[in-house]
Amino acid sequence: MEQHDHLDELLSCRIASARKKAEPCTIVIFGASGDLTARKLIPALFHLFAEKQLPAPCRIVGFARREKSHESWRNEMFEALKLFSRTKNPEPAIWEEFAKLLFYCRGDFNDVTAYKSLEEMLTSFGDARLKTHLLFYLSTSPSQFAEVVDHLHAANLLHKQSPVDEGWQRIVVEKPFGHDLASALQLNAELTRHAHEKQIFRIDHYLGKETVQNIMVFRFANSIFEQLWNRRYVDNVQITVSEKQGVGTRGGYYEEAGALRDMVQNHLLQVLSLVAMEPPVSLNGEAVRDEKVKLLNSIRELSPTQVATNVVRAQYTQGTVDGKSFPAYRQEPKVKPGSNVETFVAARFFIDNWRWSGVPFYLRTGKALEHSASEVRVQFRPTPPVLFAAQCNNNLDPNSITLRLQPNEGITMRINGKVPGTSLELRPVRMHFSYDTEFGAYTPEAYERLLLEAIEGDSTLFIRRDEVENAWRIVDPIRTAWADEPLSETEFYPAGGWGPIAAEQLLSVRGHAWRNPQKVK
Ligand code: BG6
Repeated sequence: MEQHDHLDELLSCRIASARKKAEPCTIVIFGASGDLTARKLIPALFHLFAEKQLPAPCRIVGFARREKSHESWRNEMFEALKLFSRTKNPEPAIWEEFAKLLFYCRGDFNDVTAYKSLEEMLTSFGDARLKTHLLFYLSTSPSQFAEVVDHLHAANLLHKQSPVDEGWQRIVVEKPFGHDLASALQLNAELTRHAHEKQIFRIDHYLGKETVQNIMVFRFANSIFEQLWNRRYVDNVQITVSEKQGVGTRGGYYEEAGALRDMVQNHLLQVLSLVAMEPPVSLNGEAVRDEKVKLLNSIRELSPTQVATNVVRAQYTQGTVDGKSFPAYRQEPKVKPGSNVETFVAARFFIDNWRWSGVPFYLRTGKALEHSASEVRVQFRPTPPVLFAAQCNNNLDPNSITLRLQPNEGITMRINGKVPGTSLELRPVRMHFSYDTEFGAYTPEAYERLLLEAIEGDSTLFIRRDEVENAWRIVDPIRTAWADEPLSETEFYPAGGWGPIAAEQLLSVRGHAWRNPQKVK
């Protein structure tokens, strides 16, 4: 690690208002036998416990259909923790203590008596707060949300809160938030039958990533960048979320979702809104989300003919990733042999507001690409064609700022410098800020932060209803334009590259080019 100036420590400032106190509560996970519980939720809760961030007292109840005892669920979760924990060897002594908080409640989601047993279990915990302060994590299919919410209400465990109420109840849900605007509206109506919007916490795990949270700090805690953050200085913005993995075992889900719904509707549009929004009036959750909604609202909707020229889709075919042969999407398990689902999307959006008018925002995401990386690259306008630029036949590389969201989290500025020597040679050079070098390795899982925020009732990092609806407004016309069109020959790309040629052309028509994320050595 680099040496720090003592002044750095003095100048570090903790935003006190941003941390509320976590009150004693019970977390009930519906779908406790599922993948998410084992891979993400229990490891995240364990780490929060180990770092003394969970409230005391606190209980975690797994609710699922299969018959099992508290003890066998605990054992299963310990095995999962050993596999998925971010620390290689979770401390057994800490696990022993944590396991005492875990309880299992068997039941079908549509069975009234199961909710009665849940209610009795909460009463048996003894402390009244463990029955009135409740976080319901719906790790179920969205088609089951309505019945779970209705039954919780009937069992007197969930209701629309009023300010005079003793406790609180919150519902946490995962994407997909519907499959289009109409279904999202319906889903939202079902969720808000027995809970206010303020009680609903929609997770987009990208918002829990350290570097995504840093976008706001980078923009609004520094004066040098924000001056440049507009159409006068920015030529184009590129947001890339590439993955070298294919769909693996998730073919069934992916056949319904495709890259547009799986990634663009949520993660990419969320990152875009943080990068491009106006400064919020405060750090309050509503103020931040108001600005994100305003931004999403000003993204120009595409007509069906505009989709053809502004959005590229494609699907991976057999190829080579990391030197190993990689199957075509159509050969993956649970994928139809003639599937037309896209595994790659590149799009050009325009934001029709004062700050960004005329600046293209290029978004790109895909599976089975050369390597996995998520980054935002802000390309600045070139210098005027005089002096060095004139000498370089306008080949002088324009400046850029790259926010590396993962891996190798950090920020890089690209500027031009003189190559040492007697000749006058120019070359792009980089200035790096790396999280690792500056702060040491600290990689809490996004779920740790998000679960803690939900327990504390801070909704800043969760998606509000109008954000979801606006994102569908942007994505729906694209889906509609593609709906009945089978993929054409050019809409395929070999696994292991950077996608189809059309994605390059999307930029080159305006004299732009993708800057691919660099591979971490
Ligand atoms: C999920 C998508 O939301 O995000 C997956 O469903 C994708 O398809 C994943 O692989 C990417 O997340 P991350 O954190 O690995 O970039």
